[in-house]
Amino acid sequence: MNLLPIFIKVSGRRCVVVGGGEVASRKVETLVRAGARVLVVAPELEPVLEAARAAGKLEWQEARFAAGHLAGAALVIAATSDHDVNAAVSREAQDLGIPVNVVDRPALCSFVMPSIVDRSPLVIAISSGGAAPVLARMVRSRLEALIPATYGKLASLAARYRDRVKEKLPTGSARRIFWENTFEGGIAERVFAGQEDLAGRDLEIALDRASDARTEGEVYLVGAGPGDPDLLTFRALRLMQKADVVLHDALVSDAIMNLVRKDAERIYVGKKANNHTLPQQEINALLVKLAREGKRVLRIKGGDPFIFGRGGEEIETLAEQGIAFQVVPGISAANGVASYAGIPLTHRDHAQAVTFVTGHLKNGTSDLDWPALARPNHTLVIYMGLEALRDICSNLVIHGLADSHPIALVQDGTTPRQRVLVSTLGQMPDAAREAGFKSPSLIIVGEVVSLHDKLNWYQGNLQPEH
Ligand SMILES: C[S@@+](CC[C@H](N)C(=O)[O-])C[C@H]1O[C@@H](n2cnc3c(N)ncnc32)[C@H](O)[C@@H]1O
Repeated sequence: MNLLPIFIKVSGRRCVVVGGGEVASRKVETLVRAGARVLVVAPELEPVLEAARAAGKLEWQEARFAAGHLAGAALVIAATSDHDVNAAVSREAQDLGIPVNVVDRPALCSFVMPSIVDRSPLVIAISSGGAAPVLARMVRSRLEALIPATYGKLASLAARYRDRVKEKLPTGSARRIFWENTFEGGIAERVFAGQEDLAGRDLEIALDRASDARTEGEVYLVGAGPGDPDLLTFRALRLMQKADVVLHDALVSDAIMNLVRKDAERIYVGKKANNHTLPQQEINALLVKLAREGKRVLRIKGGDPFIFGRGGEEIETLAEQGIAFQVVPGISAANGVASYAGIPLTHRDHAQAVTFVTGHLKNGTSDLDWPALARPNHTLVIYMGLEALRDICSNLVIHGLADSHPIALVQDGTTPRQRVLVSTLGQMPDAAREAGFKSPSLIIVGEVVSLHDKLNWYQGNLQPEH
């Protein structure tokens, strides 16, 4: 982010617009809507501005721009077609410490004018910092379509009750829950239906019944998918926006954590610098403790919480302690990584079955059922198998698969850093070591791997970081 988004109060303050054409007219209109006292400096006014002047909505200084015109201004906009004039306005404003915008000249601006979705008093401002104004406008039109025009009325209703709600519910968390219920439930529906009186009555009733007494919280066990934030489910995103506190670990990327409610408390329970994770029992106990404090606790996990995620153990404890919880499935690494690597897990010609196993070593060896795994027409997906890669390849060969059997290794699948290495059981251990593959990496074994060359569609490193 190279610009700080803020909203400036201009109500009753002088704002100067230099220029009297159509572009200036649009800027004036926005300033007038925000309650500014607008002074237009221009030798001539186009008809809309002239009408606004006649209606007393602006003052007009009938002149070319000159030093002194900016005196006392809260902010300045230059919208002339003359580059020298625009540059002079920018210089003088910056000398005087007045925020200045020069239309379509980012280099001369100290602030930019965003695209606006106006649901006053709710206002959404969108800016690309001058990089892609058309994109910003497209986002704006999407939001225009998404946010009902009546949202402004909902915000006005909230403004009328804000102080009373604060008085009745002194704690921030009780107020947040009250407002969330108001904005998501029947009261909001009444406003959207144009029944504002009834909405006000319902809000009074809800406020009478509301209490600051601490209620028991809830735990959301949420699968975050393998890395690409676009692979989150709608429900995951909704609960991420609702949580008061989040327990996360290294498998959940920053791009995903950025979508969690900004003011939620974050607790890292993954591997620390000393390579120690918080023991599972301590995580379970922490979830119970936080929920008992009345918090909405998001336990977010990479992939799917029920696939090699120990999610089952966490909610077993919650169930035993009578804590409410819900589980949101996520796209597991096997599904996400295989799709993004162009390796179908089953295929009529190559594999009629797929097995997910963990390659995690216990006491330095893996005790997998090798005869069952070393089968033709079968895809084997191995989680956490990088460390044991050599052991895995040799066991599969010992138990019947050919040295030349295809195998793929995918690191950081579905993210812009995705790397795919395709080899054979005989050569993969050396190839992976040479290529320096690191965790998280997933192993896929089977004839389906040979399809990668043809179906490889994802150009991760060509895509921008989320
Ligand atoms: C503790 S398991 C968690 C699995 C997770 N619950 C799931 O459903 O994907 C971690 C392992 O998942 C695999 N994994 C997770 N995300 C991955 C990714 N983006 N790319 C490759 N492998 C990944 C790796 O094998 C990693 O060692």
